[in-house]
Amino acid sequence: MENINFNINYSETFVSADERAAMQTEVQAAKATLLSREGKGNDFLGWIDLPEEVDSAMLDSIAADVRRLSPIAKLFVVIGIGGSYLGARAVIEALQSEFEPFRNDRKAPYIIYAGHTLSEDYYHQLLNLLDKHDYAVAVISKSGTTTEPAVAFRIIKGHMEKKYGKDAGNRIIAITDARKGALHDIAKQEGYQTYVIPDNVGGRFSVLTPVGLLPIAMSGYNIDRLLQGARDMRRICIENNTLDTNPALLYAAMRNILYRKGRKVEMLVNFVPALKYISEWWKQLYGESEGKEGKGIMPHSLSFTTDLHSMGQYVQEGERTMFETVISVERPAATVAIPADEQNLDGINYLLGKSLTDINHNAELGTIQAHNDGGVPVLRFTLPEINEYYLGQLIYLFEFACGVSGYTLDVNPFDQPGVEAYKKNMFRFLGKPGYGA
Ligand code: PA5
Repeated sequence: MENINFNINYSETFVSADERAAMQTEVQAAKATLLSREGKGNDFLGWIDLPEEVDSAMLDSIAADVRRLSPIAKLFVVIGIGGSYLGARAVIEALQSEFEPFRNDRKAPYIIYAGHTLSEDYYHQLLNLLDKHDYAVAVISKSGTTTEPAVAFRIIKGHMEKKYGKDAGNRIIAITDARKGALHDIAKQEGYQTYVIPDNVGGRFSVLTPVGLLPIAMSGYNIDRLLQGARDMRRICIENNTLDTNPALLYAAMRNILYRKGRKVEMLVNFVPALKYISEWWKQLYGESEGKEGKGIMPHSLSFTTDLHSMGQYVQEGERTMFETVISVERPAATVAIPADEQNLDGINYLLGKSLTDINHNAELGTIQAHNDGGVPVLRFTLPEINEYYLGQLIYLFEFACGVSGYTLDVNPFDQPGVEAYKKNMFRFLGKPGYGA
């Protein structure tokens, strides 16, 4: 098996070898702090060993739920917000067809999402859809008290009870804390099938727990391969201690060097739309982990070549406070030929004989060079292809680098105190008891 490659060639004019050498010492110290489990937020480091400590009974139970629910559910509603849905969505949307709802040959339930919005129109449309199709639900909340998924679950539970009567409970799976929270209490009272989110794993680091694994498996994808990829990347991240041998250390080092040199915005860039939700997951991972105490790189994302026709001008010539991290994909899953046309009225016959992937790779190279010439440092990850194994590698690499990078920045990467601010105001405006007038 190949590994994900990380390349910094297009940032060498912005970051010197001496700067990298100096930063190596810092990220090595941050890594040591992470692995010693003595740093900030050390009660939330369970994610480090998740790929090695997979509970086989949990995997068997997920497989049994997939067998039980797939034949009776055309749709599978994942109710959750933030870390309780983005990881699953990132993997599922990377693997499935862009036109998945229009496939007639799909055997697994089609995954749809709720609990990530309070839009009334969204729930109206969702309920209309659920009227017409058989479905099952996973309701996911670590705290078990988050308002958005609680509202969504109340609405959908009511719909299920009308539609399925006493059988509704057999179509509901709750994924939450082992002991506390409203969702835990509801699941216990109703006797739902339940999975536990480990105490020491925070939401945005939970994709390799049932939070991510159950929906991904329900969607028909191979979670063993996902975990294998994560396991192999874990070994690379833990066993290697230099920037040349450890891509997570090098990524964390480059981010911190660039940040200190005024690069306050990082754009995660893809050239295949399938990776859009990987960017959404990554934005939460880095934004929530590092954006605190008035510090932290602002994570942003772009899909090229699409966004070259909307944001390309800014990236090329706007304020020079950004850098790009490209996720490149070497091989497509399938090929599409460009047909010959003798008349060549569109003028693109010069592309004949090249695959679309060749053309896309040349667009990527052209973009990287142009942005580099325009003063934007570019980092680049390359995935041999998009499959469960490489997504597992990528997830672990980003998580490990996030822990190292956050410690290098000297913040607690594993808390999110700022998320409470909007909730307190919203609760006060809504008149929730205990939140003032
Ligand atoms: O990373 C986090 O901890 C958060 O983004 C949570 O995942 C998000 O707020 C949802 O919380 P919960 O799973 O408790 O409903």
